[in-house]
Amino acid sequence: MCLSVPLSVAVFGLCIMVAARAENPVAPPTSPLAPIQNSAGAQVAQTPPMGWNSWNFFAGRITGQDIRNAADQLVSTGMRDAGYVYVNVDDTWEGDRDANGVLHTNAKFPDVKGLARYVHSKGLKLGIYSSPGPKTCAGYAGSLDHERQDAELYASWGIDYLKYDLCSYRESVMHAQAPDGKAAQMRLMIAAYAKMHDAIQAAGRPIVYSLCQYGWDAVWEWGPSVGANLWRTTGDIEPTWQSIYSILNQQAGLASYARPGHWNDPDMLEVGNGRLTLAENRTHFSMWAMLAAPLLAGNDLPNMPPEILAILTNRDAIAIDQDPLGLEATRAYSEGEVDVWKRKLSGGAMAIAIVNAGSDRYLSHPFHLSLAKLGLHGPQKGKDLWSGKEIALTDDMPLEIASHDILLVRMATPK
Ligand code: GAL
Repeated sequence: MCLSVPLSVAVFGLCIMVAARAENPVAPPTSPLAPIQNSAGAQVAQTPPMGWNSWNFFAGRITGQDIRNAADQLVSTGMRDAGYVYVNVDDTWEGDRDANGVLHTNAKFPDVKGLARYVHSKGLKLGIYSSPGPKTCAGYAGSLDHERQDAELYASWGIDYLKYDLCSYRESVMHAQAPDGKAAQMRLMIAAYAKMHDAIQAAGRPIVYSLCQYGWDAVWEWGPSVGANLWRTTGDIEPTWQSIYSILNQQAGLASYARPGHWNDPDMLEVGNGRLTLAENRTHFSMWAMLAAPLLAGNDLPNMPPEILAILTNRDAIAIDQDPLGLEATRAYSEGEVDVWKRKLSGGAMAIAIVNAGSDRYLSHPFHLSLAKLGLHGPQKGKDLWSGKEIALTDDMPLEIASHDILLVRMATPK
């Protein structure tokens, strides 16, 4: 949406390369596995951050009052108690800088400090958004040359989370300073993300640091070295099955880069947005949980139908996402239009997810599950996390799965 055409093309090109990557888990990153101390000695995002972000539903229409309403809804719907604690203001809150370079908010956000106090009083945390460029993606003031000042401002307001979106830095700095050198452009990009991390650390408040640069230059390889707690792995998500399934496929091969404190981010949730069917909403939510992805709801909370709330608060699915081991799912195998993913969980447990990307599978031509391809031996007992019922899995068992639906199973003692 805010990406220029050439940028989208570049992202598309990257996606093709990513999709073509080998399925086998790649070698672990060279950086140490110890969690990076983000700031003030605090370890943040030891499990994937959960909360709500304004962009996917409100985009540029968001106001401070909407943020208060979202906070109220997180509490009254029980979402906060299910783990959704970050209330994240995305783009379009920014005003102008004064003569001293201090950034002010625009009229939609008259008092961010008061907003932070309100959000904190509800047992929630407040997130904010900026760009390393002179302008954000929506054309508001970015942080270029004001990183320290902005980080100090966020800390003084009581901000707990920063999403830092590349946007105009690409044209204004990367292209301007290194017009012909792609690698030099990428080094400039990495330096900009490191600079804001240093600014956050100097400001001394624990702040979750979320990189948004669409997955360029294999960000999963260098994100932790610039203090990133999470990094977007792709271009923008949209509330369509095509977008969600394409992003899902681009995550295969990235599992070894996720670990406590550092997460792959396949973008914010679209659950409850657009015209996604219930099956599609369920599959989207289940797979983001399997991927140890940040679970940032992006729907219209005050007008949320009960069936969408039920999906977002499925405690069993959330427990997969938040599993303390932090081991992301890998795609075990695909057969026709059906993909089978597996994830190791703490205590020797395991989750499997069977996604039907095609049309309905009936018993005339069911999907036959191979336990052997999952490394399992003989019949297994588990829980179907959407029906809530016990399920017995046997090798080659025939399964009916509706179009774009999922069978999500947790096995406490897989054999
Ligand atoms: C995009 C970003 C979106 C949203 C938007 C705001 O670049 O991917 O998630 O933040 O900018 O302008």
